[in-house]
Amino acid sequence: MIPYKHEAFTDFSKEENKKAIKAGYETVAGYMGQDFPLIIGGERVTTEEKIVSYNPSNKTEVVGSVSKTSHELAAKAMDIADATFKTWKKVKPEIRADVLFKAAAIMRRRKFEFSALLSKEAGKTWIEADVEAAEAIDFLEYYARQMLRLKDGQPVESRPGEYNRYDYIPLGVAVVISPWNFPFAIMAGTAVANIVAGNTVLLKPASTTPIVAYKFVEVLEEAGMPAGVLNFIPGSGAEVGDFLVDHPRTRLISFTGSRDVGLRIFERSSKLNEGQIWIKRVIAEMGGKDTIVVDKEADLELAAQAIVKSAFGFSGQKCSACSRAVIVEDVYDQVLSRVEELTKALSVGVPEQDEHFVGPVIDGAAFKKIMSYIEIGKGEGRLVAGGTGDDSKGFFIQPTVFADLDPKARIMQEEIFGPVVGISKAKDFDHALEIANNTEYGLTGAVITNNRMNQEKAREEFHVGNLYFNRGCTGAIVGYQPFGGFNMSGTDSKAGGPDYLGLHLQAKTTSEML
Ligand code: NAD
Ligand code: ALA
Repeated sequence: MIPYKHEAFTDFSKEENKKAIKAGYETVAGYMGQDFPLIIGGERVTTEEKIVSYNPSNKTEVVGSVSKTSHELAAKAMDIADATFKTWKKVKPEIRADVLFKAAAIMRRRKFEFSALLSKEAGKTWIEADVEAAEAIDFLEYYARQMLRLKDGQPVESRPGEYNRYDYIPLGVAVVISPWNFPFAIMAGTAVANIVAGNTVLLKPASTTPIVAYKFVEVLEEAGMPAGVLNFIPGSGAEVGDFLVDHPRTRLISFTGSRDVGLRIFERSSKLNEGQIWIKRVIAEMGGKDTIVVDKEADLELAAQAIVKSAFGFSGQKCSACSRAVIVEDVYDQVLSRVEELTKALSVGVPEQDEHFVGPVIDGAAFKKIMSYIEIGKGEGRLVAGGTGDDSKGFFIQPTVFADLDPKARIMQEEIFGPVVGISKAKDFDHALEIANNTEYGLTGAVITNNRMNQEKAREEFHVGNLYFNRGCTGAIVGYQPFGGFNMSGTDSKAGGPDYLGLHLQAKTTSEML
């Protein structure tokens, strides 16, 4: 077995790669605007009601539409997933892993097509789309190998005359509910962790980005995944989401999305429904309000670059994005002025030609919400850059920086999920850490410092799931920086980490007298 290594990123300065992604767009053009069915037990099911996916850069361009799952169809999908679990759980882990290895190989061959689709459906720039496609492949490669490690259980002690074993067995039907901001990687990662563990899946992708999920299900089918193991059932979160969360046959819910929906799922899933004989397991990966701290002894150019890149990559729509910077007063003006300069130099536009660093935000609702936060920011702090938006063709917002904010200001506390960063001044490093910890979230953070003692203090005291030193706070890599946050950022799981598959399994102890 080749040891795990993360998928390399593409260098788009090379002509051959430019050509390859252009060919990817052509492939996508071949199915743009098409209608895609549900996939339940391998069967294609078309409904009257549709969910339409639009290009956020060009709001009249339809990427595709998908059928919309009703309660009746969701119930049918549950019955099929439940029945398929009885056979899938008995398929050897090695074979389940092989399906993932094969699917990863297909995805690698079609990487530029998936990147082009991510650019059309989610508004990703080539680089952001390529990083996401690589992450999706990584999840398959990594979890397949993890399952091979766990397939024979873990060693436990046995006394003389006794033979004890500790094995992992699958759980049952998993409901996977994924977000639009990593519509390929997170959707694929959360689905395949279940599949390789031996669970069957009901996949409800985000309604703004269902086409990439459909194309992924096709890849798994091509890789040999049996019908009924992964069922594609897009639908309204409030309707089909609630229905599946409540369903007595749901064994596990793997959710990634906002804090409020995560809490709603957590609460509903705790209620016992008729016929239910287990406590549902919930993995919830939720929001963030991620901070970069800049110390006075630091590479200030690196600090400004890290803030701008982490704040505005993918228009700030990453759960890991830097939405706050806290800078100690000795270097505050210097760093702020460089952040202003770098931000004003960013270009915003349609991501299809690789000319722009910042693309659109996902849809009209996001545009309105972010613009309303920009108005709030104008009252709370000093507007240093950006502050305007244009939704005449697509949903574009200028990268926006607010300075001199009170650490308790709404811009410093609430997840905006757009290209807006708030900046506060700290008296010293301890004060900066105190501000960094003053939100209810705890997902990512970064500290820019050349002071080893301060770095170690942050390692202990900065309470986030992913803490980075002397770099930005986005871009965790599967298997290298397992990803997931504390407090209101979720249930403390670590996607792409060595413990993650265990959350999709249950351990069984057997003891035999010899
Ligand atoms: P969202 O909560 O609006 O939606 C996420 C998913 O939940 C979608 O598929 C949606 O249809 C579904 N949903 C909505 N209501 C539901 C309900 N009542 N029952 C069941 N499902 C329901 O989030 P979003 O806007 O798609 O994604 C952005 C959010 O996700 C941000 O808060 C971001 O920080 C978070 N996020 C977190 C991580 C992480 O790893 N912690 C990663 C990516 C995104
Ligand atoms: N893996 C993504 C990041 O770290 C969420 O930015």
